[in-house]
This record gives sequence, structure tokens and C-alpha cells, in this order.
Amino acid sequence: MNRMIRPEPETRPAQGGVRQSVAHESAERHVTGKAIYIDDAGEPEGCLHAWTVMSDRAHAAITGIDTAEAAAMPGVAAVVTAGDIPGRNDAGPILPGEPLLADSVVENWGQAIAVVAARTEAEARAAAARVTVGYEDRPAILTVDQALAAESHVIAPMIMRRGEAASAIAAAPHRLDGELRFGGQDHFYLESQVAMAIPGEDDAIHIHSSTQHPTEVQHVVSRLLGVPYAAVTVEVRRMGGAFGGKESQASLIAGMAAVLACKTGKPVKLRLNRDTDMIMTGKRHGGLARYSIGHDGDGRILGLDMIIALDAGSVPDLSGPVLTRALCHVDNVYYLPAVTVTGYACKTHTVSNTAFRGFGGPQGMLAMESAVMRVADALGRTPEEIRAVNGYDPIGRDTGRNLTPYGQPVRDNVLPRVMERLAEKVDVAARRREIAAFNATSPVVKKGLGVFPVKFGISFNLPTLNQAGALLHVYTDGSVHLNHGGTEMGQGLFVKVAQVVAEAFGIDIGHVRPSSTRTDKVPNTSATAASSGSDLNGMAALAAAETLRARMAAVAADAWGCSAADIVFGDNAVRSSAGDGRMRFVDLAQLCWERRVSLSATGFYATPDIHFDQGSMTGEPFYYFAYGACVAEAAIDTLTGENRILSAHIVHDVGTSLNPAIDIGQIEGAFVQGLGWLTTEELWWDGEGRLRTHAPSTYKIPTSRDVPAMSISLLDEAPNPRPTIFRSKAVGEPPFMLAIAGWLAIRDAVKNAGGKAETLTAPATGEAVLRAVTGFDAQ
Ligand code: MTE
Ligand code: HPA
Repeated sequence: MNRMIRPEPETRPAQGGVRQSVAHESAERHVTGKAIYIDDAGEPEGCLHAWTVMSDRAHAAITGIDTAEAAAMPGVAAVVTAGDIPGRNDAGPILPGEPLLADSVVENWGQAIAVVAARTEAEARAAAARVTVGYEDRPAILTVDQALAAESHVIAPMIMRRGEAASAIAAAPHRLDGELRFGGQDHFYLESQVAMAIPGEDDAIHIHSSTQHPTEVQHVVSRLLGVPYAAVTVEVRRMGGAFGGKESQASLIAGMAAVLACKTGKPVKLRLNRDTDMIMTGKRHGGLARYSIGHDGDGRILGLDMIIALDAGSVPDLSGPVLTRALCHVDNVYYLPAVTVTGYACKTHTVSNTAFRGFGGPQGMLAMESAVMRVADALGRTPEEIRAVNGYDPIGRDTGRNLTPYGQPVRDNVLPRVMERLAEKVDVAARRREIAAFNATSPVVKKGLGVFPVKFGISFNLPTLNQAGALLHVYTDGSVHLNHGGTEMGQGLFVKVAQVVAEAFGIDIGHVRPSSTRTDKVPNTSATAASSGSDLNGMAALAAAETLRARMAAVAADAWGCSAADIVFGDNAVRSSAGDGRMRFVDLAQLCWERRVSLSATGFYATPDIHFDQGSMTGEPFYYFAYGACVAEAAIDTLTGENRILSAHIVHDVGTSLNPAIDIGQIEGAFVQGLGWLTTEELWWDGEGRLRTHAPSTYKIPTSRDVPAMSISLLDEAPNPRPTIFRSKAVGEPPFMLAIAGWLAIRDAVKNAGGKAETLTAPATGEAVLRAVTGFDAQ
């Protein structure tokens, strides 16, 4: 798609429309190293390089900042502290009060206090090391337990309630209480956070930012500089991965570059290295869940009372929406007749946590699943038996068990079909027997099996955010410039939207050229997040294409003396179904120009029929649900705790896939990333609140050798019942949670080893597994 293919002289079938496995638009550039990321792009003349001075205290009053020595260092152009910010020192994405640079107090180790611009990065780093900060230490809250005890929260607790959970639990034949602790996760995108700010005329500034949310960067920079939104242009061609980590955090990096650019009048680039990125930017929320569950002798859940406490870190950032989504996903695939879930976004003096693929959903589902496992253990049943009596009503059967705790009816439950397909791939009962036979003769290595079904709500919980815009130009050579509000982070959004446009015009995808996301082309955009990139931007681009198609059809109809309704686009051409009129798409584009018809249009889309009341935590926030299920097998070494996921069989529902190859890639990537969260990736802070796992030497993401044998199938013949873009479903986040099957497989192996499965924490590192197997805590 990168090379413009000249229109062919004759019409022929168009290549690369929807439902085809078209390669990622930058696949070739990715693998040849030709894809240009911000740090690869040429630097404007005189470009300065920035480095940040970070707090080395978790919680302290700042008694003084001395920048004089740093400012006098070679090559230094500026040293900026909070007082130098021309506008408002606030980078909060939702709530005010989140300073870009610490002013009078620091609230986490790694918080930015000052930022230096110099000729080279080395000079900026050397100077940053000479900035001295005086502190007066204050008591720090470093764990969720401490925060819960101190009632330290970044926002008020949330309660989601349906029915009378307490009395249902009290009246239930069986009751159990439990707790689960789960860790956070670093995004570990390959491209660390980076921005380049280029000052222009008057107060204008152009920012190249590796961000999922150009509009938010625009707003934060405008606030920091005290200039109108219209003075700030934010541009992003692609990110080298983001995973939620560049939804709000990118504004901090862009904000620092912008303040320095404003101060010096020169372009400024700030690129974090891996350690700084891991120390300074937010992560997935770790935390804990505690629950009481009442059930009957068949394992039917009668009442659930749960608290979910997330470690929000030092400021709110996106913790409110993350917690909301966590609460909205506790039910997962289970109908809960009486339920109270209380959510706490705990304020601790650690880095502020943020969006990460799944956005609270994984934490909510994992908590619930650990409770479901306890029910199975207590009754000596398989988890499959417990699930069989607790599921939501499938499509077409209404037994009154289809209402989520927040009041949204589940109308599209295709899980029974997903499970049927999965059963065709893997016979769970037979695999359990084989595992039992293996374990009977294997004294040290024990195997286990986990099955996990997923139901994930698609749409931002906040209805307002579910909107998108697009801009299309058709040129007179038949090529199409495509722009929309979504950003490309490797997930394949650009190729999917290009497929939509190619399909709409009936032309080769090679004629459609996606372009950088820019706030001056499509304004007021939402983050590319919540998996909704192609749902929203695909529809907006389709709307723009339909506008242009209508204008072009009118010109063709006029030329052939037929009705516009008779005009058909396809085969890189346009024809009249009412006569023998036919011309190439490119010729019609040329004719439109000659007839002075505009070939440029915008498109807009807003998801219909969704609403959510944050106060009562009720409504129908999700346009639809995406479903999937996984069977995983694991082996553990009972002497060392080492573990391995051996295999994973997945069936996942993407509706009618826009691009099966991209979707399978997303499922595979999400699953492996989820395994990382649940097995090897452990964030570890010391007693002073300093993150000690801030590089791949100590923080272990899965490597190619950790990837199990995988078999992934898309659920066939499953068009989205909602009129989404070509009846597809979002895919970015939902399969992340399929990895819970891997954690369950390890848990099962612990159980098969005679260990205390209910004490297994996440991530199931070697230490965690050994603790659960032996009951011995070396700490
Ligand atoms: N895939 C790649 N390769 N890189 C990423 O950063 N982010 C994920 C997912 N897949 C990500 C990815 C996250 S967190 C989301 S919300 C979606 O992509 C966002 O894109 P979409 O809405 O277009 O699916
Ligand atoms: N995922 C899910 N929901 C969201 C997100 C996200 O990244 N951002 C805001 N709401």
C-alpha cells in the first residue's frame, strides 16, 4: 500500500477490501527497519534534547531546588521547574491537580521535578544530575493494604449493587470467603515514550508525540503553555507499541518537551530510555480482591459480596474509569442474582497507574474466577460443572438470567457456540484424564489444566467518548488520502480502515493511503483505546466515503442519463446497472473535478444506544460484548516452582472479521501479553517506594520460548448482531483475558501437587508457585 499503484487501463476485481487477510500497512517497513518512528525522523535544525530530574523520595516536601550549577553546564539551553511553566502546571487527563513538574511536594519516587534541554542528550543528562533538590521526608503509603487501612483513596469508593447480597449469602446453603492478590504490569512497548515539540509562529507549536490520544496531548500542552487548542497541533504517524501506556502518559512527555520548546524557542525532543520510562510512567493497576460468596450444593452462585482495591498510585489519572470497568467485568460470563462489588482506587506513594489493555477488566475477571474456583474446590466439582449452572442465557433462550449487575441485558451471548467449537478442538475431560495419568507417575513435575471463557464489553464506559471523525480526499489520479482520529500502534487499525475505504469505493487498497493522525485534520478525538479503534474510525471513514460516493454517483448518473441509485462502484470502476455506462474510478474522479464537484469529505460516527450512569453504576454502557474461550495446560516443578504453559487452544469471536490475519495476530499477542501479566512479570518496590524492577534484567516479559503451542480459531459465521462496521467486532483487548486459562492451569497443577491452590497469587512466578505448593513463605 505504501507504493502508489497506477490505475490499470482496464477494470478488474479490486484487491484488499474487507474480510481479506491484507498485510499490516507497515509490515514490510517494520521488518526492514524502514518504518519511521519519532526518534528516527530527522531533527529540525538546532533541535535540543531533554532529560528529566526525577524524585528520589516516595513522599516529601520540597524544601528547595537548585538549578544554577546545571544551568551553567556545557550545552545547556534551559532548566525548567514548576515555576517556569507559562500556563497551568496540570497534566491531569480527567481531574485537575496532577502537576507536570512537582511543585511543593513529591508523591512518588520517579516523579518529574525539573527538565533540562541541552545540545545533546548526554549534556542534558549530565546537567540533570547536577540539579539538587532539598526534601523533608513525609510518611509514605506504599501498599494497597496500608492505603485501605488509612482510607487513602484518589477518588471516592464506587459501589455496584444488585439485589441483597448480604442476605443472599447468609441464606445460602454454603458460604466461603477468600482473597486474591494480583500484580501490576509494565507496558514494555518497544518504543519508549518520546515527543518532539517544534515551536512555530506566534504561539503555535507542533508536537510529534508517540501517543494514543493526540487530542489529549493537545489539551494538556495548551493548558501548560496557556495557549488555545488551535495553536497546538499534535501529530502521530505510528507508535512502536502502546498498550494503554500512551493513553494519558504521553502528555507528560509531550508536555515537558513543549514547555522547554516554549522557553527556548527551539525544537526540543524528549525520549525516555527504558529505565526512566519504567520508573516514571504508570502501569497496570495491581491490587487485591476480597470476597464472600454464597452458593448452593450444585455450585449455583446465590450471592456475592466483593471488594476490589486497585493501587492507583499517587494521582487519579485514569483510575476512576479503570475501576469502573473492573466492576463492570466482575460478572464476566456469570449471572449473579445478588451482588455488591465495592471498588477502591487506593492512593499510594508510588507511580500513578494508568490504562493497560483490558483496563481493569482483567483484574475484575481474575478476582471472580478465583472465587468460582473456590466453589468448585469446595464441592469437589470441575470448574466446567460450576460454569454450567451459572451462565448467562444464550441467544434465543430467556430464563430471566441475562441481566448484568449494572443492568445491561446480555443479548448476544454466543459463548455456548464458542465452547462447542473449543470442544471440537480439545476434549477437556480426556485431557484431564491424561493429565491425571501423567501426574500419577511424575513425582516432581505436575501438570494442570485451565479453561477460561471471556465476555468483554465493547465501548468506552463513558458514552461521550464513543465518537470518531474521518477525512477523505479523492485525487484526480484515483488515489485516496485517508485520515481519521485513530492512531496506529501496531494493532492494524490503519489497514483495517483502509480496507473499509477500498471496499466502499470498490477500488484496490493500494490506491488508499493512510496518513498521520493529526489534531488539525480531525479534531476533538477520543483516545484509540477500549478496543474501539476500528469500530469508531471505520464507521467514520465509511461515512466520509459514502458522502463522496454519493457525489461521484450523481456525476456519473448525469453523464449517463440514469439515476444515481443505479450507479455501482466495484472492480476499480463505476457502472450503471440501468444501462451500459461504465468508466474507471480514476476517470470518474477526473470528471468530478472537471464538473467542479468537491472530492473531499469528512465523516463522523457516534455509537448509538449506549448510556451509563456513573453515580448509580447502572446502564447499558456496552454496544455489544466480545466472547472467547481458552483451554490451557501447564506444568510446574514442585521443587523449584518453575512453570511453563504447554499449550493453549483458543476460540475467539470477532464477529465477521475485517481482517482475519490481523485479528489472529491480535489474539495471539494479547494472550501472550496476558500470560506475562499472570506468570513472569513482577513489579517489585523496595521499602522506600523505589521500583527495583525497571529493566529487562529484572522484569521478565515473555520471550519467544515462553510462547506455548497455540491453536487459534475465529468463531465462524458469527456476524455482530449490531450494525457495526461490516458486522465485525473489536479484538484489541478481549483476548488478553484468555490468558487467565494459563493461570488457572498453573493453579490446577498446584492443586494436583497437593498444594494450597487457593493461596496462589498473580503473577504465578516460581516463588509464588513454590509458596502455594509448599505453604512456605521464604519472605
Ligand atoms: N497491538 C499492538 N501491536 N500494539 C499495541 O499497542 N494495544 C492494544 C491493542 N492491540 C496494542 C495492540 C490496546 S491496549 C488496545 S485498546 C487496542 O489495540 C487499540 O486499538 P484498536 O482499538 O484499534 O483495536
Ligand atoms: N480500555 C477500555 N476502556 C477504556 C479505555 C481503554 O483503554 N480507555 C478508556 N476507557
